[in-house]
Amino acid sequence: MEHTALYPGSFDPWTNGHLDILSRAVKMFDKIIVTVAVNNKKTAVFTGEERIELIRNSIKQYDWSDQVEVIQFTGLLIDLARKKSVNVLLRGVRQISDFEYEFRMALANRRLAPEIDTVFLMPDEQLTFISATIVKEIAVWGGDLSSFVPDNVANALHQKYEKK
Ligand code: PNS
Repeated sequence: MEHTALYPGSFDPWTNGHLDILSRAVKMFDKIIVTVAVNNKKTAVFTGEERIELIRNSIKQYDWSDQVEVIQFTGLLIDLARKKSVNVLLRGVRQISDFEYEFRMALANRRLAPEIDTVFLMPDEQLTFISATIVKEIAVWGGDLSSFVPDNVANALHQKYEKK
């Protein structure tokens, strides 16, 4: 039986923290479906398609990249998980402040779909302070993003903010 996990997030943008979580998860699961949640109410820097492309390009150098599928999705995560017959959701937790939100979301998902569990992984401690919000703040002011996001994401962010 193939063990698959859904790794959902906004990934706007995809960071080194996300990449670190994914690189740990591929050792535990046969397949990971990175799910870019596109929320029409949230204003995003990158479109769903752009985020997918950035994620795919950032992982293609790794020997585990063929274990990863990257898709976009709008709707309830548990509906997608059921459609794909996946019963594990994967989330990264960086610090205690993440936990409350994650705990509520995991329990809400479990109420909606008791057969689906959420698994939490911690990134490397050097990456725990990285968030999409902080990355965007640095990008706005043209700061050095090299230790925050993969190179292709840094280039894309600089291009986005130069244009604005
Ligand atoms: O990276 P984020 O923004 O913290 O990810 C949040 C995300 C996309 C995982 C969450 O908002 C989500 O699952 N959205 C889809 C709608 C849904 O299923 N919500 C969970 C029920 S509370």
